Amino acid sequence: MARRTRTGQREAALARVIAVVNDKGGVGKTSIAANLGGQFAGAGHRCLLVDLNRQANLADDLGYRGTDIDDEGAGLLASVLTGTPLVPARDVRPQLDVVCGGTRLEDLTPVMVSRLQHHGRESFRVLGDVLAPVSAGYDLIFIDCPPESTILTDLALGSARWVLMPTKSDLGGLLGMTLVAERFALARGINARLGLLGVVLFATGTRARAIHGEALAAIDDAFGGTSPRFETSIRHAERTAQDARRLGKLAHELEVAAAAQPAWWEELRSGTRTTRISETASGVAEDYRALGVEVLSALEAAETAEKPRTRRRGAKA
Ligand SMILES: Nc1ncnc2c1ncn2[C@@H]1O[C@H](COP(=O)(O)OP(=O)(O)OP(=O)(O)O)[C@@H](O)[C@H]1O
Ligand SMILES: [Mg+2]
Repeated sequence: MARRTRTGQREAALARVIAVVNDKGGVGKTSIAANLGGQFAGAGHRCLLVDLNRQANLADDLGYRGTDIDDEGAGLLASVLTGTPLVPARDVRPQLDVVCGGTRLEDLTPVMVSRLQHHGRESFRVLGDVLAPVSAGYDLIFIDCPPESTILTDLALGSARWVLMPTKSDLGGLLGMTLVAERFALARGINARLGLLGVVLFATGTRARAIHGEALAAIDDAFGGTSPRFETSIRHAERTAQDARRLGKLAHELEVAAAAQPAWWEELRSGTRTTRISETASGVAEDYRALGVEVLSALEAAETAEKPRTRRRGAKA
């Protein structure tokens, strides 16, 4: 009975943990985690980003690489080793905290391999164990997963309630997604409530309708014909992507900065030459806003659908 209560408390604590996953590299996992987290935080939701990536590109997108808060994954590693609650770095933006990733996470893989040998797949629940005690402080938690690191991604799949899967419409992105579909099924053995929140196409040309069609058919295939897909895709915008990592700003922040810069002809007249921020940031920010609305609606719809079940359970007790 006590065990069931503990399990219920853990499930409730992790109910809004979203792992952003695709085994393929460069399909938008970090960009989407950073921009959704930053945007929700800007709208007043308390958000946490957990970076499971050795490259720690979240630090670039949010501009904290090499600053005092950047522990390069040391805190996350220590929590998993000792089973103590995560200690997020506070306020990388108002209402937005992070658990940093980085090179220290290289030590996590051998630790997990050893635990896996001794305790089996249950070991992958550890991230949820150290996340649950701090999750009450947040409305939404996103885990940014690495590419091609099954062990670290399995840690995320063992704790998250939801998977959000970005993909490109090319073959590589779709293959990565198919691999995740297989491990998603395995992860449900230890995390039965894991669900696919949705798949989102990333960095696609707006005219690539034919490619979209093929990609979407492949997504349905990978998840057994029932995969939820977000209507919104994130448009291809290379200059905005470069501005984002160069300046450590999110799309909606670049949008504001682009609007505030002097007109190009004024710069020409005054003889000052600065690297201009691309105006395409505004369209990309718009895509992230639309995706955010869809993500929130999907979460709320799923939570509403679950409510009667919770009440019935309560009535029996
Ligand atoms: N809207 C966009 N259009 C084109 N490129 C983009 C866009 N947004 C981000 N990028 C760039 O695409 C690349 C991949 O993005 P991102 O790092 O988010 O992918 P990822 O899946 O997290 O990669 P990894 O698997 O290496 O962690 C990066 O160089 C990023 O700057
Ligand atoms: Mg990444």
